[in-house]
Amino acid sequence: MQNTSNVNLDDETFCKIRDLIYQLTGIFYNEQKKYLIETRLSTRLSDLNLTNYEDYFYLLKYSAKQSDEIKELFNSITTNETSFFRDAPQLKVFEDDVLGEILKQIKKSPANYSKKIRIWSAGCSTGEEPFTLAIIIMEHLYEIPAGFSFEIIGSDISEKALYSAKKGIYSSYTLRNTELKLLERYFDKIGNEQFQVKNNIKNMVNFYNINLINFDSIKKIGNFDIIFCRNVIIYFNNDSKKIVISNLYDSLKKNGYLFLGHSESLHFISSSFKLVGFGKTPLYVKE
Ligand SMILES: C[S@@+](CC[C@H](N)C(=O)[O-])C[C@H]1O[C@@H](n2cnc3c(N)ncnc32)[C@H](O)[C@@H]1O
Repeated sequence: MQNTSNVNLDDETFCKIRDLIYQLTGIFYNEQKKYLIETRLSTRLSDLNLTNYEDYFYLLKYSAKQSDEIKELFNSITTNETSFFRDAPQLKVFEDDVLGEILKQIKKSPANYSKKIRIWSAGCSTGEEPFTLAIIIMEHLYEIPAGFSFEIIGSDISEKALYSAKKGIYSSYTLRNTELKLLERYFDKIGNEQFQVKNNIKNMVNFYNINLINFDSIKKIGNFDIIFCRNVIIYFNNDSKKIVISNLYDSLKKNGYLFLGHSESLHFISSSFKLVGFGKTPLYVKE
């Protein structure tokens, strides 16, 4: 195996790799982030016994193994940080104001709703977000009118993250914000500081590899009542944010809800949504 610790990424090759990543994913690395690409891809160079980044770029762009390497590229360059019950105030809005309102409306006029309420965690990383939503819904199971059910889809561009999500095994660190009673109710302790999601929660979520920049990839999963796309578009520039947000808009049903991360907004990106505020938690609605 090649030692790549002293291989430098020159500016010209950085721009070529950076532009390719942008074109494929919408993720944009400016010059200040060159070190990130260099560090994240050095392991690939080493695994492939390559001596420079220019050869790696050619592998990505022209080789017969191109599509396999692009998957590895996605695994390497994405930031997959997440945790269960991330951003509690937002989840409270989901539970009380969105889920609560939907259940109230279903009881009032069931004929206006389709029998399956569909939720999409777009950019779900290793699965903590969609499983959190499944747990919240499970806590309200007794309120769901007969004949109605919830379907949750988790999607990501990283195969590695999705592989981990499908296993549903987590460390106590990623569960640090999970109430003890919920931990005991919905997880099996399988080892030292290791927990596995119980099957009733696991079965509520299906995982898919979806590239949010590509509507052909998205349209096969259909339309949704609620979309969570939190802490994903922070890695994009305004042009790719506009494409992704427009794709999410087209995937929402009328009156559907969009949750973004707490540091993300649609300012300068889209005026198609109505912004509704619940305290300090903004929420977007498709009118
Ligand atoms: C920081 S994680 C956010 C996870 C979760 N939504 C949360 O807030 O905890 C961002 C995820 O977005 C995914 N991602 C980035 N670009 C993407 C794209 N073009 N299509 C689909 N997923 C993407 C990454 O692979 C990563 O797992």
